[in-house]
Amino acid sequence: MSARKPYVGGNWKMNLNGRQAVELASELAGGFAASDQVQATVFPPFPYLDKVGQALAANNSPIQLGAQDFYHQPNGAYTGEVSLAMLKDVGASVVLVGHSERRHVIGETDTLLNDKTLAALEAGLEVILCIGEKIEQRQTDKTDHINTGQLGYGLAGVSDAQMARVTIAYEPVWAIGTGKTATPQDAQNTHQIIRRALGFLYNDNIANAVRIQYGGSCKPSNAAELFAQPDIDGGLIGGAALKPEDFLAILQAAADTAPVPA
Ligand code: PGA
Repeated sequence: MSARKPYVGGNWKMNLNGRQAVELASELAGGFAASDQVQATVFPPFPYLDKVGQALAANNSPIQLGAQDFYHQPNGAYTGEVSLAMLKDVGASVVLVGHSERRHVIGETDTLLNDKTLAALEAGLEVILCIGEKIEQRQTDKTDHINTGQLGYGLAGVSDAQMARVTIAYEPVWAIGTGKTATPQDAQNTHQIIRRALGFLYNDNIANAVRIQYGGSCKPSNAAELFAQPDIDGGLIGGAALKPEDFLAILQAAADTAPVPA
């Protein structure tokens, strides 16, 4: 069991309406109190960030508010984009960077993702940097190459001190939203490679301290087994994050693996 506090994120993607988002936030706030054991963040769609943040605050919830995306420039003529200052203004403290849907559906490049990582850390936010291989890359033995490459590009220029606010989410693209999950052993193997790569990029202390979440069809029935792996420190959850009972069960599975306080 590691000394790292498990971390579970709920990525709501482009789902729910305003009323449903507030209801979900309120139910999660009512059901989750183990913040000394698990860090938890929800990532609602932009238009609902404010009201979800208010619902969490009204329930005194320790669940943090996060944003699924942002633009790295401070302000200006960037039609349709949202700045980090705007996100902070509505109470967001965490951002996702490099989710596979941003990389592969929207077309964000490693260079842009590095700009985003640096800007978010500079703005004082926490970052979950998502990495992961596609099925054809896995089938041609490029899994480690892709993941260490996305890791290195994404973190270029990030200082040792800033790494305290970085979490990595390993999300094999073929497992996202497909119902297919990496086996706990396969996921553990990749997490271990990613942690070793953090050791090369930084040092052993940082590699041992950074949380690496697993993402990709994680659900109550497989969360405990995944989170029990030595290098898996929680999860980034999509579909199951939309159902309060499922997300709460996954948070509980993470709490069950939390280090016992000294
Ligand atoms: P999923 O999504 O849990 O629906 O597979 C995970 C993610 O995209 O973060």
